[in-house]
Amino acid sequence: FEIYLNGLSGVMPTMPMTYAELEERGSRALDPWLLSYVAGGAGDEHTQDLNVSVFDDWGLIPRMLVDGSQRDLSVELCGMTLPSPLLMAPVGVIGVCAQDGHGDLAVARASARTGVPMIASTLAADPLEDVASQLGETPGFFQLYTPNDRELAESLVHRAEKAGFKGIVVTLDTWVPGWRPRDLTRSNFPQLRGLALENYFSDPVFVSRLARPPREDLQAAVGTWALTFGNPSLTWKDLTWFRSMTSLPLILKGIMHPEDVRRAVDGGVDAIYCSNHGGRQANGGLASLDMLPDVVEAAGEIPVVFDSGVRSGDHIVKALALGARAVGVGRPYVYGLALGGEDGVVHVLRSLLAEADLLMAVDGYPRIADLGPAALRRR
Ligand code: FNR
Repeated sequence: FEIYLNGLSGVMPTMPMTYAELEERGSRALDPWLLSYVAGGAGDEHTQDLNVSVFDDWGLIPRMLVDGSQRDLSVELCGMTLPSPLLMAPVGVIGVCAQDGHGDLAVARASARTGVPMIASTLAADPLEDVASQLGETPGFFQLYTPNDRELAESLVHRAEKAGFKGIVVTLDTWVPGWRPRDLTRSNFPQLRGLALENYFSDPVFVSRLARPPREDLQAAVGTWALTFGNPSLTWKDLTWFRSMTSLPLILKGIMHPEDVRRAVDGGVDAIYCSNHGGRQANGGLASLDMLPDVVEAAGEIPVVFDSGVRSGDHIVKALALGARAVGVGRPYVYGLALGGEDGVVHVLRSLLAEADLLMAVDGYPRIADLGPAALRRR
């Protein structure tokens, strides 16, 4: 009601109220090289587009005369009660999407204000300890890109534990960047140098691999980062190692195949993260939502986190109805950050949640527990 009431007294919102406007204005706020990084996807971006349009294949069936006075968006995830099912998916290099170069800190503060957990990327422009210090009471997750240097991977995870993160998300689908034409035709890496990698550069194990500290020889540090970043030889055998690295909840991100779900569950993970990386890694695939019901079924009692293509409240509700326990957004909050910093992120998150909450109430599903496959019909 806040926005309607403000409107009655002539106060109109200055931030976008639709995703189309958010994307349009957010895009204009980013440098062209950053925009190609944020907006771009793999190949001709067909899978990326499909991630969004697939939500239209499903429709919610409204129910009438359901008491909507007691609404509840809270969910349980890995032993935590979250006020809502929304998460901020990990976004690397987000630091430089903010005017002051500290986007990770702005996102962390937005997380503290909204209760929407941040999954902090390995590729942060600020050390993960600084990010964690801004999260307030909201639990945060740390996302690991597994370097090919095991000691470095362990150092990052142990730092995250010590800093107070409440879960580790290991991303499996990006041991090498995908074929992203927009990035390939714009040389991003020169601008990235040193700007976006402070989390790495502050790691004692990483620094011990260098002849001279990053500040004295940035080029060598970036080179070492590039050489250690990916690990193409990881297999399911390494799940034992991932599990042994931390006693925090362990979540594997990038899972789309039910057989991979079963392997992950057998290996003792605490949650499955169904995602195709927003269509940034592989073109020609199904939309992430296409695989969600199969992933949920294979996961059994293990909760499933979902992302890729979520742009509105109804997308959140549909993913929940198809069995997701929590739903992540990527690009929407990046555009919010570019446009309005911390307040912009808060605006995007609050709008998504308000839309989902209102839709659930209007359609007669006031609590998340009321949602299930029967609330949806495929068109
Ligand atoms: C990402 N994503 C991502 N994932 C991850 O595990 N670690 C990371 O560092 C990044 N970096 C990243 C940068 C940018 C610019 C984007 C847009 C995405 C993927 C992200 O976590 C998530 O899976 C997708 O963004 C979800 O899709 P939507 O919401 O952007 O469509």
